[in-house]
Amino acid sequence: MSGHNVWTHKGTFLLAAVGSAVGLGNLWRFPYLTGENGGGAFILIYALTIFAVGIPILIAETMLGRTSRRSPIMGMRHLTKTHRTSRAWESIGWLGAASAFLILSFYSVIAGWALHYTWLMLTGSLVGADAQTISDGFNALLASPRLMTMYHTLFIAGSALIVGMGIHKGIESGLRIMMPALFVILIVVLIYGIINGDVGAAASFLFTFNIGDLSLEGWLQAMGQSFFTLSLGMGAIMAYGAYMSSDASLTRTAIAVAFVDTAVAMVAGLAIFSLVFGAGLETGQGPGLMFVTLPLAFADMPFGALVGGVFFILVLGAALSSSISLIEPVAAFLVERFDMTRPQAVTIMVVAAWAMGLLTVVSFNVWAEGTIFHSLFGRSAFEFIELLTNIFMPLGGLMIALFAGWALTQSEVMKELGTHPTWFALWRFLVRFVGPAAVSFVFLRTIPQVEGYLIPTLGSLIIVAAFAIGQRLRHSNPS
Ligand code: PHE
Repeated sequence: MSGHNVWTHKGTFLLAAVGSAVGLGNLWRFPYLTGENGGGAFILIYALTIFAVGIPILIAETMLGRTSRRSPIMGMRHLTKTHRTSRAWESIGWLGAASAFLILSFYSVIAGWALHYTWLMLTGSLVGADAQTISDGFNALLASPRLMTMYHTLFIAGSALIVGMGIHKGIESGLRIMMPALFVILIVVLIYGIINGDVGAAASFLFTFNIGDLSLEGWLQAMGQSFFTLSLGMGAIMAYGAYMSSDASLTRTAIAVAFVDTAVAMVAGLAIFSLVFGAGLETGQGPGLMFVTLPLAFADMPFGALVGGVFFILVLGAALSSSISLIEPVAAFLVERFDMTRPQAVTIMVVAAWAMGLLTVVSFNVWAEGTIFHSLFGRSAFEFIELLTNIFMPLGGLMIALFAGWALTQSEVMKELGTHPTWFALWRFLVRFVGPAAVSFVFLRTIPQVEGYLIPTLGSLIIVAAFAIGQRLRHSNPS
């Protein structure tokens, strides 16, 4: 598509994709999931999934964006036509837009907590505070819809501002300032953790692999986390890929994104657990690890308020560079499809996600129990939305893998990837079989009745079915 926007530099896609990938998933979710699931074993599964499933799907998703040079929904529509596949594949775009919208709604609320803690830290409010005071403080934040809504509004408005200014003046310039600063802060916090904490304990916790530590639930979470952390299956990477230079290598870039993303998670984990062990605290605190355990560790350390404040700025920046990638795919679609201006499109997406986010806000207080979500799904609205995205993202990833591996004309895919035939064959094997099998495994495990030997059986059935459907869709008529 001539005249379509392209990033200013060959390497900007890498910057943008790393910005999207590195976020609350690395700094907040990864450490607490690792802490809850016994450390090293969890990391092993996580790393394997990133390598065998994450990277191949990352390559596929970027490729879909770059060959179509359109926003995810319009791009999928375009590809179904040019590759003469079924229109049904367009659902990849719609599913992605729905996930982006849902994730943004709760992502912004949680990033808002980091805003609160940046403030508390930098004003020195928590210096010398004891465990009770700090956990009461966190509970008080959760109990206040007013406070949470205020932070949620501030955060999402900031993200909207950046995307509203366009991909060059807004997203690119923003990332060019934010990302290097984030890496510097991360290193500073790590050094601080090494000096003041117990890095030996942290390292042995993170890197001692004892597969027996891992429950099946942990397996699932490790695989789900690898999708979430790479921003896969919901159009963010596809939207950014649409602006990627044709000269940049898809495979090398994807490997670099996965590598940096994983490294950030490990360094953050190392820094956080050094501080947690150094202060003699518990690792398995769940979501409160960052907002209760960590502030408590900082409370008694030299320059804790300052370094703690800087740490929460890191969290905020990382969250911001991810939330803009959640707005972009939907905003770009609205611009392309309805000829809106960018500010109009961003406003529509953000106002809708903001309103949806209020459901997350009240899930921690006034709607914490007894709502329709509890009676229908046995969980709060927030937990339900999170569950939906945990299903949508792997599902989107599965469909992307099938579409790229089976439905697209493979000679053209090979041209677009531009790698050595051996690498191409490896990639294709991974997206055709390994990715779909892994995702099916995750889904099947969520059905409690399916036990033991049934899993491999059903898994292979699904692969065969996927093959058949892929072939059929490939040859069905374009409408
Ligand atoms: N990858 C981001 C993180 O780790 C979350 C995210 C998911 C961002 C999907 C964009 C799209 O925090």
